[in-house]
Amino acid sequence: MSEKVGWVYYTKGKLIYMGIEKQGSRPTGAMGKIIGRLMNKVHTGLYIDYFKNNLPPDHSRILDIGCGGGKFLKYLSTVNACYLLYGLDHSSEMVALSKKVNRKAIDQKRLEILQGSLSEIPLHDSSLDLITAFETVQFWPEIDKSLAGVYRLLKNGGSFVIINRYPAEGSKWWQMASLKSDKDYNCKLEASGFTKVDVDLDYKRGWIIVRTTK
Ligand SMILES: C[S@@+](CC[C@H](N)C(=O)[O-])C[C@H]1O[C@@H](n2cnc3c(N)ncnc32)[C@H](O)[C@@H]1O
Repeated sequence: MSEKVGWVYYTKGKLIYMGIEKQGSRPTGAMGKIIGRLMNKVHTGLYIDYFKNNLPPDHSRILDIGCGGGKFLKYLSTVNACYLLYGLDHSSEMVALSKKVNRKAIDQKRLEILQGSLSEIPLHDSSLDLITAFETVQFWPEIDKSLAGVYRLLKNGGSFVIINRYPAEGSKWWQMASLKSDKDYNCKLEASGFTKVDVDLDYKRGWIIVRTTK
């Protein structure tokens, strides 16, 4: 029997089933908005715990890919008013929520939320000091192409940090993931041109942190 995890909800006279993997890959509709707020609450603490000791210098240009509800960007904009910040997400619900959460920094022109996909990021090549991707790489299409795109956007010496759940072998999430093991992260990132791939599996049980440099 196949394992199904998700929600059934009623909208416009219809009962809709939406699997958790679909909502994770593109949070949508009323349920998507709830998920965006939940992710802001549940996920962001771990990212902050890591970054509070690993913050980039003043004036860094930083992009958070798959920014979801935008809470991590809010943290960065609060901790250093000299960062120039971008968030990218292809879900219109997440873009709206991120804009709401980051209204002040957006008005001050320190932060921009971009709606779009990885294949069409409207930023110049070699223009970013740091790119982050939290709980999102498992949803990226054509992982080699996507990682090559991230590489292009970074300045020489720029960093790419992935923080992701690290599902147990054989589980539903493991089956979905395009990067299934620490070796996969290493191998795919190096093939995209990254050097010094540093993988940490001990930071928090069930999670992986990968830091690499262009
Ligand atoms: C599980 S959520 C994580 C959100 C946030 N990073 C966090 O950790 O709370 C994954 C996010 O990645 C976004 N996403 C997935 N694939 C994407 C793609 N190809 N281009 C842009 N955004 C993408 C989804 O819309 C979603 O908001």
